[in-house]
Parts: sequence; structure tokens; C-alpha cells
Amino acid sequence: MRILITGGAGFLGSHLTDAFIARGDEVFVLDTGAIAKVRHLLNDPRFHYVHDSIFNLELIDSLVAKCDLIYHLAAVVGVEHYVADPYETLNVNVNGTQNVLKAAYKYGKKVVFSSTSEVYGRNPKVPWREDDDRVLGATTIDRWCYSTSKAVGEHFCFAYHKLGMPVTVVRFFNVYGPRLDRVDVGRLFTIFMGQLLRGADLTVIGDGAQTRCFTYVTDAVAATVAAGLNPAADGHAINIGVDVETSVLEFAHLMLELYGPTTSKIKFVTQEAVYGNSYEDIPRRVPDNTKMRTLLGIEPKVSLREGTALAMDWFRREARA
Ligand SMILES: NC(=O)c1ccc[n+]([C@@H]2O[C@H](COP(=O)([O-])OP(=O)(O)OC[C@H]3O[C@@H](n4cnc5c(N)ncnc54)[C@H](O)[C@@H]3O)[C@@H](O)[C@H]2O)c1
Repeated sequence: MRILITGGAGFLGSHLTDAFIARGDEVFVLDTGAIAKVRHLLNDPRFHYVHDSIFNLELIDSLVAKCDLIYHLAAVVGVEHYVADPYETLNVNVNGTQNVLKAAYKYGKKVVFSSTSEVYGRNPKVPWREDDDRVLGATTIDRWCYSTSKAVGEHFCFAYHKLGMPVTVVRFFNVYGPRLDRVDVGRLFTIFMGQLLRGADLTVIGDGAQTRCFTYVTDAVAATVAAGLNPAADGHAINIGVDVETSVLEFAHLMLELYGPTTSKIKFVTQEAVYGNSYEDIPRRVPDNTKMRTLLGIEPKVSLREGTALAMDWFRREARA
């Protein structure tokens, strides 16, 4: 098959690309970002890197026309980005998504759209089922623009599905692993990892009781591949994540333990000190992953301890290189 992966040079996209190349497929990656995460594939004749944007309409049209299956992962991701630049977040995640969906509709191609656990907002009733409510704050709080942008993308997906286009929405829950963001920026794992590598204290926001369901990248990718290949997933939103809740404080302790001897300790900081006033954290974030297990037939295989150790080894090797 020929697969188009927008955002395919990012963290999840690069692992998804690896998975399709390993299956023997041909992959076209369209990404504005750096090539580092897919550099290992550059000599593979079945891998094509197109360094351009989902705002290049002619290019999108020609890529969609020649591919059998479209994964739309390109997005502005990460709290620091959507708090700092809500315009870019909304523009890429809403208008850019429309460009991809329009082309896919024109050629009748299936799209898998990458959405997020953030769409549930701060709904206090966990675990979240795919048809549960979205509970969000005011539009004057920039923090909600990412959740809203992805929800608009989902609405477009379901609207196109009504018009006859095959589409599946996957909602990722805190995926981590090798090639996640640069250390010190981005998501919890890389922030803690950067602090460990520098011997600095691990900054836990608030009392650290807020929970996440950390999902190792190979489990998330297996489910994402299945979502694209299995027609039973068409027209569905599917939570992609493990349902084991871990508090941020527990995760900090696990990282300290697995890292081994270090001068780093745990330091509690206020949310305002890290993100200013426009961020609001979500106390519990847990998927009901029944659909992932039953519809896609995917059982997560990698425990948090195992996955954290694997990712940590990778980041330590990178830091030494
Ligand atoms: N990793 C997670 O835990 C997680 C959780 C929820 C949702 N997601 C979603 O999964 C997808 C991939 O996330 P990721 O973690 O790999 O993030 P990432 O930032 O590593 O990947 C996003 C990629 O999109 C590219 N991109 C941005 N704007 C573009 C444009 N205009 N044209 C082409 N490419 C563009 C970036 O260069 C980047 O490589 C995103 O849609 C994200 O919202 C990820």
C-alpha cells in the first residue's frame, strides 16, 4: 500500500512510518519539521520525505491522489505552543486539517485523524468513553484552544463520513517513548528526563496528585495501524491508551528510581510559575479503552516501568552521542 503520513517526521508519525515500512508498504511523509526522527529511513527506496506544509494545496492534492490511506498527524502540539501561540494552533489544527480532509474526500481516500484525550477537557467522570461529554473552560483561556481545535477537526471528520468518506478518529492518551520531544521541553517524560540528565530537581506541579495514563509508543502505533487497516473502525472515534492511572508524583518517583544514583530530588512548584495564568491542569485523565481492545483487537503490552526504562535508555544514549 501507499501511505501518506502528514506530520510523519514527528514523534508518533516517525514510529508510525517505521511500522508501515516494516510491513513492506511505501510511505510518503509530509512535514515542515526537522528530519532527525526519520533520518534512519532516508536510504530506503520505499520512504519519501516531502519537506513542506499541509497548507500547500497542490502538493496535498497530488500526494493524496497517489496514496491509498491517509494519516493526518500534522498539528501544533504541546502545552508551551498552544499557550504561547493560539493563532498558529487553531490555524494548523483547524484550517490545515480541512485541507487534508477536502483532498481525501475528492479522491475517496480513507483518513485516520489524530485527536487527543484533551477533547474531554476536564470532565470529572472518568474513565472517559468516546461518547462522553466535553467539559471545557472559557474561550478567553488559551489553554482550551488545542482541545477545541482537535474537536473541530473531529467534527469535520464525522461530517465527511456522513458524506460517504471513510474516516477514523484516534484519541491518544499521553504517548511516550524514544524520539519524544527534545529534553527539557514538551511533555512530562522529556521534562523530567532533561532534569535528570542535568542533575536538576524534578519539578512536580501542585501536589502531583493529578493522574495520567502513560501509553508506550509501540502500543499506540499498533492501534493506529489497525485503525487505518480495519474497515470496522470507519466512522468511529477510538481512545488509544492504557487505562492504568499513574499520578505525576508516582511517575517522578519511578523516573528517579529507574535513573539510578543522582543528585536530583523532587521539587513542588506552582502551576502559575510554569505556565502563567492561562493554563489549567486536568486532575484525572483516563480512557475507557474497550473499543481499542474489541474493535481494533489491540491489548497494550508494555508496562509503564518497562516503557520508561526503554525510553530512558534511548534518551541517555542520545545525550552521550
Ligand atoms: N504524543 C501524544 O501523547 C499525543 C497525545 C494526543 C494527541 N496527539 C496527536 O498526535 C499527533 C502527533 O503528535 P506527536 O506527539 O507526534 O507530535 P509532534 O509535534 O512530534 O508531531 C507533529 C508534527 O506535525 C508537523 N507539522 C506541524 N505543522 C505542520 C504543517 N503545517 N505541515 C506539515 N507538518 C506540520 C511538525 O513538524 C511535527 O513533526 C498530533 O496530531 C497530536 O495532536 C499526540
